[in-house]
Parts: sequence; C-alpha cells; structure tokens
Amino acid sequence: MSGPLRIVRLTAENVKRLTAVEIVPKGNVIEITGNNGAGKSSVLDAIFWALAGTKHVQAKPIRDGAESARIVVDMGELVVTRTFRRGADGEIKPTLRVEGADGAVFQKPQSILDSLLGTLSFDPIEFERKAPKEQFDALRRFVPDFDFEALDAQTRGDTEKRKDANRDAKQKRAAADLIVVPENFSPIDEQAIIDQITSAAEHNDTIAKREERRRQVDQRIADIDRNADIFEREIAELEKRIATLRAKLLEEEEEAEELRERRDAAEPLPVRLDVATLRAQLDAARRHNAAGGRAAEKVRLLADAEAFEAESARINARMEERERVKREAIEKANLPVRGLSFGDGCILLNGQPFEQASAAERLTASVAIAMASNSRLRVIRISEGALMDRDTFEALEDLAERFDAQVFVETVSSGRPSAVVIEDGEVASFGSHTGEEK
Ligand SMILES: Nc1ncnc2c1ncn2[C@@H]1O[C@H](COP(=O)(O)OP(=O)(O)OP(=O)(O)O)[C@@H](O)[C@H]1O
Ligand SMILES: [Mg+2]
Repeated sequence: MSGPLRIVRLTAENVKRLTAVEIVPKGNVIEITGNNGAGKSSVLDAIFWALAGTKHVQAKPIRDGAESARIVVDMGELVVTRTFRRGADGEIKPTLRVEGADGAVFQKPQSILDSLLGTLSFDPIEFERKAPKEQFDALRRFVPDFDFEALDAQTRGDTEKRKDANRDAKQKRAAADLIVVPENFSPIDEQAIIDQITSAAEHNDTIAKREERRRQVDQRIADIDRNADIFEREIAELEKRIATLRAKLLEEEEEAEELRERRDAAEPLPVRLDVATLRAQLDAARRHNAAGGRAAEKVRLLADAEAFEAESARINARMEERERVKREAIEKANLPVRGLSFGDGCILLNGQPFEQASAAERLTASVAIAMASNSRLRVIRISEGALMDRDTFEALEDLAERFDAQVFVETVSSGRPSAVVIEDGEVASFGSHTGEEK
C-alpha cells in the first residue's frame, strides 16, 4: 500500500438521521448541503465513525426504528465497513472490517485506520476550538529538533533566580542609601596597624630573650674580674696558696678573654621598635574612622548590590539568548499556512492571536494545518462550512487542490449546483457527485 487515499464511494444506511445514502465523490471539495436537520452532519459523522474508531461515536448512532446501521467507506485500495447493531440489552455493538482491493481482510483493522489518519484531527474545526496553548503544542511538530519543554523549564528557573537577585540587589542598595558619609572621606586601614603592632611585639620579645642571655654573660665576666682583685689581695696574705690561685687566675682570665672575644664578635643587637608610637597611631585611626561613620559598611553593601545586579544581568542575557534560539528555530520552521507564526505560547495568524482572526480565516488556516499533516488518508471534514462566504469557499477549493485533499464540507442550503443536497435523511440531488447504483 502506498500513495494517498481518498474516498471513491460512500454508503451509509440508518446512521442517525439517514435512511440510505450513496455518494461517489468527484473533485476535491464535496459540499453536503440542505436544510437544518436534514441529515448533513449524519453523512459526515458516518465517514468519521467508520474511520476514526468507536470512541468518537455518539450515544445513538442507529436511526430510530432501525435495528442496525452500516457504513461502507470505499477507498479503492482499502474498503472499510463499520456496522452498529442494537443488542438485546440495548447496548450498541460495533463491528469493523477492513479489506484490501484483493478481498484480503486485515487482522487489526482499527490500527490500520489509525495509521492512515493524521496526527492533527480529521476535523480541523477541532484544531480551531483548541485552547491557544493546545494549538501551540499541536504545531510544535512543524519545528523539528527543538525542545520547547526544556526551554520553558530553563526559562521558569531563571525567572525565579533573576527575581531573587533583583530583590537582593534592591535590599543592599536601600541599606547603603541609609548610610551618610562626609564628602571626600577616605577610611584608614586599622587592621594594617594592628598587624604591625603584633609583629613588633613578637620581634621585641625575641630581643628580650637574647638580652637576658647577654646580661648573664656580662654578669659572669664581672664576677671573674671581681675575683681577680680578691685573689691578688689574698696572694700577699696567702703566699702558700699563690701557686694554686695563680693557676686558677690564669685559667679564669683565659675564660674571661674567650667570653669577651665571643661577645665582641657577636652582632650588635637590633634597635627596639617603637610600639608606643604605633599604639598612638591606632588610637588616632580609630578616632578618625569613628568620625567617618559607617563608610566601610556602605562600601561593602554597594559592592554586594553590584554583584547581585551583575548576576541578574547574566541571567537576563542567557534568557534572551534562549529566546533568540527559539525564534530562530521557529523562523526556520515550515508552517503550512502563510501568515501563521508562533507567538508567546499561542499561535498567531497575520500577527494577531489565532482566536482573534475572522471565523473564515481561522477555518481556512485550520484546514490547511490539517491538510499539511500529510496523512495518507486525504479526507478532511468541515462541519461549519456555512460560515464561509463565496471567496472563502473558493479559497478552500484552491487549498484542497493544492494539498490534494478531499474535503467534505457541510453548508446550509447553499444553492450551489455542484453540492450534494440531503433531504429527510436521503440524497435529494447529487450535484457533481454521482450516486450511480453499483
Ligand atoms: N438516532 C437517530 N434517529 C433518528 N433521528 C436522529 C437520530 N440522531 C439524530 N437524529 C435527528 O437528526 C437530526 C439532526 O441530524 P443532522 O445533525 O445530520 O442534521 P443536519 O442536516 O446536519 O442539521 P444542521 O443543519 O442543523 O447541522 C435531528 O433532528 C435529530 O433529532
Ligand atoms: Mg449539521
């Protein structure tokens, strides 16, 4: 099976208002006309119910007084037969049979039919009646390789983040504005002076320890000197001990000499640092800074505000970039109708929201969309053809030809000679569509 499918013959018996009709469509547009209540929609429903599955069937598909209804949609390559029978319990029992041109019967008839019907509705009016968001979603498939959901989710996340950043920036700015600082005031860095004091104290401590050691050495040298005097005085008195004492004296003098040499060879002690002056500087800095009020706090708040503002701007830029990518994808999309475009979560027709276009404009666009869905089955149903003036009807004929579609359109007593006229549940005249007996 391949190539487009169209209805070559339709028969419907006892469907809703119909007794029996048989239509052999010619051309692209098959107009079904007649008075209100004559059975026009019953003809269109018969096609729809035969093809689109039982979930669309209304509560009473069988004409009052009849026991069963039967619809045959002959598409040449495929012949679809749908029947409804009233069961003993009053339940409506449907059957479906799909056979090929060679008479072979298909096993899963409804899935065969489902694969033929477009993803957009068989009835374009349904597209028209959708909420703007649903229309938007239905057309997304014309924009390939673009993940609208992911984009929307990212945008929602970023909108929240930007809101937070803007709020924080505002708070910080407001807090900063409350702080008044004298003109040309520049704060002195107290911490730098505190650091200098700490390192000076450590430095001085080290020197104090070395001084103590040196003081002990000096003390020892002084003691030895003093001993030498005593020894000399005692030499006279204690001649016996002279030898011993002199030896000791010599020894100790040598030691003294050695210590002296070591002391003199040692590096001079560094100069002590002036902590008192630094402390005075710190006091002066504190007095100065107190006079400047909360300038440092203000500087911090302003820096925070700037950081938040920059964050907000970054988020904004990436949201704009995403919008640009989306616009580009949409511009590249191959929408089936001139003047049709994507708005923000809705469809636009000639720049206006779809629902604000005229009834006929909406109808034509919806039909074009349904046709562009390019299902194999080229059958389209328009229930509200009565809305179309002559120009719109002609535009519909052009569209049907352009898309090679077979459009069944219901109008009310249009008077067009080409139309099939339904009267009292039967075909009263065939227009350009024959009703020859098989
Ligand atoms: N199961 C049924 N048995 C008998 N009559 C029915 C049944 N179902 C609907 N009808 C009648 O058929 C008529 C509606 O048929 P249908 O909708 O096909 O008419 P129509 O020509 O499309 O009308 P309109 O111009 O108002 O759209 C109503 O009068 C309704 O009472
Ligand atoms: Mg109707």
